[in-house]
Amino acid sequence: SVQELRYEGQTVVVTGAGGGLGREYAIFFASRGANVVVNDLGASFKGEGGNSSAADKVVEEIKSAGGNAVANYDSVENGDRIIQTAIDAFGRIDVLVNNAGILRDISFKNMKQADWDLIYKVHVFGAYKCARAAWPHFRKQKYGRLISTASAAGLFGSFGQTNYSAAKLALVGFTETLAKEGLKYNILCNVIAPVAASRMTETVMPPDVLAKLKPEWVVPLVAVLSHKSNTKTGAIFEAGAGHIAELRWERANGVHLKADETLTPGAVIAKWKDVVDFSKAEHPQGPLNGLELLEEAYKLPANPKGEELDFSGKVAIV
Ligand code: NAI
Repeated sequence: SVQELRYEGQTVVVTGAGGGLGREYAIFFASRGANVVVNDLGASFKGEGGNSSAADKVVEEIKSAGGNAVANYDSVENGDRIIQTAIDAFGRIDVLVNNAGILRDISFKNMKQADWDLIYKVHVFGAYKCARAAWPHFRKQKYGRLISTASAAGLFGSFGQTNYSAAKLALVGFTETLAKEGLKYNILCNVIAPVAASRMTETVMPPDVLAKLKPEWVVPLVAVLSHKSNTKTGAIFEAGAGHIAELRWERANGVHLKADETLTPGAVIAKWKDVVDFSKAEHPQGPLNGLELLEEAYKLPANPKGEELDFSGKVAIV
């Protein structure tokens, strides 16, 4: 039997929790015993303006249901202040959900520099600032759960969203590396690509589809990944319409050409079928297998200059 997941004694920070998915996360965590920081600067979905009422309303809702929450109105660009709110109010931080987000959809041809910059600032710089401020606390207490929010747009591309796609996929690399650096300290980091009805999607999807995309249905995955019982780290998940699935990298069969003067464009063309052949694909956790292949094929010493090549868990000092 599965027990109800609870978060007593823990502090959860949810960015962009004044509406949409973030609001659902915040309400859930509070209902399961967590102290919650409801961050939202209350901007439009394009990132214009600001208003404290979005966060206040969610805090009010949580409190009237008997939960514990405080509001924070800073932009995630000032993530240190958001984490400070958690420390000041509750004395600790255990879970950070990097959820805040905006859109500036426009074709690449017509995109203004400001559209690119603001998307980067909110999604990438904002997630970095929040995580960076939470990290010393996570390390010190040897516990942390970090969920960041990517998007199908980042994983697969999406017309009119070059800025957003680039930013969202950046959070995958961010997560994969933090998972490695955090492992030793029981800091587990995962990234989700949700699909849900919100003000972000209501202009691009019809009502009958939106009705099948309740944001509540993304919450259980975030709950599991944020819980102390979770052991998964460095993974990508999709969640929407009740479908929850992990996603991973796949490496084609490939070709291993001789690394000498015969390694020409022609040699690549001649073996192109193998380069793109996924019939014996592998699912790599990192580039290590490729290095082993190299060592095997050329009988290279594993450590030619006495340097550590370590992609797995610690920063090499060379
Ligand atoms: P939403 O617009 O309802 O919620 C986003 C919240 O973030 C808003 O309340 C907004 O005020 C807040 N916010 C925006 N900029 C902020 C900043 N600089 N600092 C603090 N808060 C800020 O959108 P939704 O759909 O709930 O999106 C949540 C996350 O999920 C976003 O990161 C979004 O990119 C991502 N996402 C959503 C999808 C969907 O289908 N709804 C699809 C893929 C990704």
